[in-house]
Amino acid sequence: MTSSLVTSLEGPDRATIRAVKVQGFSERHRRAVFGVLHAALLARPVLPRPSYPIGGPVGGNLSEDSGPMTNRHVNGDDAGVAADWDPRDPELHDDQRAAYDALRGRCPVARDPSGSWMLLRHADVRRAALDDVTFSNAASRFKSAPNSMDGDEHRRFRSLIDRFLDPGRVAGLVPTFREVAEQVVAALPRGVAVDAVEELGLPVAVRAQSRWLGWPAALEPALRAWVHQNHEATRSGEQARTRDVAERFDEIVRQEVARRRGTTGSSAAGADVTAELMRALVEDPAAAGGERVLTEAETVSVLRNWTSGDLGSVARAIGVVVHYVAAHDDVQAGLRATEDAAALDRAIDEMLRLDDPFVSSRRVTTRDVQLGGRSVPQGARVLLNWTAANRDPEGFGGHGAYPPAQHAPSNLVYGIGRHVCPGRALATHELREALTALFRGTKSIALAPEEAVTRETPPLGGYARVPVILG
Ligand code: HEM
Repeated sequence: MTSSLVTSLEGPDRATIRAVKVQGFSERHRRAVFGVLHAALLARPVLPRPSYPIGGPVGGNLSEDSGPMTNRHVNGDDAGVAADWDPRDPELHDDQRAAYDALRGRCPVARDPSGSWMLLRHADVRRAALDDVTFSNAASRFKSAPNSMDGDEHRRFRSLIDRFLDPGRVAGLVPTFREVAEQVVAALPRGVAVDAVEELGLPVAVRAQSRWLGWPAALEPALRAWVHQNHEATRSGEQARTRDVAERFDEIVRQEVARRRGTTGSSAAGADVTAELMRALVEDPAAAGGERVLTEAETVSVLRNWTSGDLGSVARAIGVVVHYVAAHDDVQAGLRATEDAAALDRAIDEMLRLDDPFVSSRRVTTRDVQLGGRSVPQGARVLLNWTAANRDPEGFGGHGAYPPAQHAPSNLVYGIGRHVCPGRALATHELREALTALFRGTKSIALAPEEAVTRETPPLGGYARVPVILG
């Protein structure tokens, strides 16, 4: 990738970061240093594979998960050599999707100044996600269930989680999600700008998730505040801040767990999903009878992965979908007229494919591997960029086009392989019910002419703010 080399990089100090120059990104964008995604990636202790406890500050499976971390597996031997791109470049913050499209065109397997690799092509992301032996999920120093697990351990926890998120089971939640969405839409003002992320997406996500888990409505302000704090901490790139915010979230979850234990000590009382999870058995060859209940740390980790990341994912996904229908009258008219739930779901998936708010997932290589003509060493940190892969013309025959049915088989919004999103059916019901409640409750949805749409900044995707006028 000689055409796109970093020409000056001597070390990860701030002065040097300012000197990083990646060909293809303009000088006007040197105005600030954004240390968001990769401040932590610049710190790279080279340590043997740890045996780590469940828990810790890395909160979940979403884009946030590609944020601050200290990766102990990373191979630092090649640090400091030429890189292909700079994740701190402000151009990325202006329009992530365009920057990734451009990078995929000139360097689809791209190395950044910290020595991390990013895969941007559909074929490469798909291959890495499917080859879970070469591309391990044990890429964080904190273990989370099931996200950071590999092999048989992952299978055991995943089979427990899949029981709760089984499509047949979560279909029973549709009336609840409909009621939640209708209440939120009914409370939105008409004829003035409303933010589809903050005023529609976030309350729908928080209330739907709370109803599913059996958490009290009174938690809503704390959960909403937490989503914002988490995003801020993730953007800051400061590990201590991220750890703090994660700890605050774990505290909310622990209270819910403690409430259900009540005076009974270890057995959880109650009929809701949280209590059921506390009583659920996970396969464990070391346990008497081959199975056991989850430890408190495991319960908190599972609940954290169901909520901490996904509230933000669902809220931002609703922002993307509302933006798309507000900006495309023809699509909006067609979807308003359809009563075919499967067609709505395919349309929503396609909108998310074009603008995937769940940007990336991380892996660490367990052996040297060749990808796109590059040699990626064992122990390398690798980001699978779902947003870029989902827009790869070679994966879809033209990323600008919108034919939902044709693109569905290659759509990677919910991932692929062993770690494919177990929450897909749940998220799909939430998104469809939010959109159809909006259609039923309005005659028109249009972008607010006087207000700016604001895109999210890395490592988050989609929009931070989508002002629309409901008619
Ligand atoms: C629009 C919303 C959502 C999107 C776009 C999304 C996307 C994804 C993607 C791409 C992955 C694969 C990550 C990887 O391969 O490393 C994933 C994994 C996961 N998702 Fe989702 N997700 C969403 C909502 C949800 C919801 C609502 C839940 C739970 C209630 C959930 C739970 C999980 C879990 C636990 C994993 C890790 C699975 C594993 O490692 O085996 N997701 N998600």
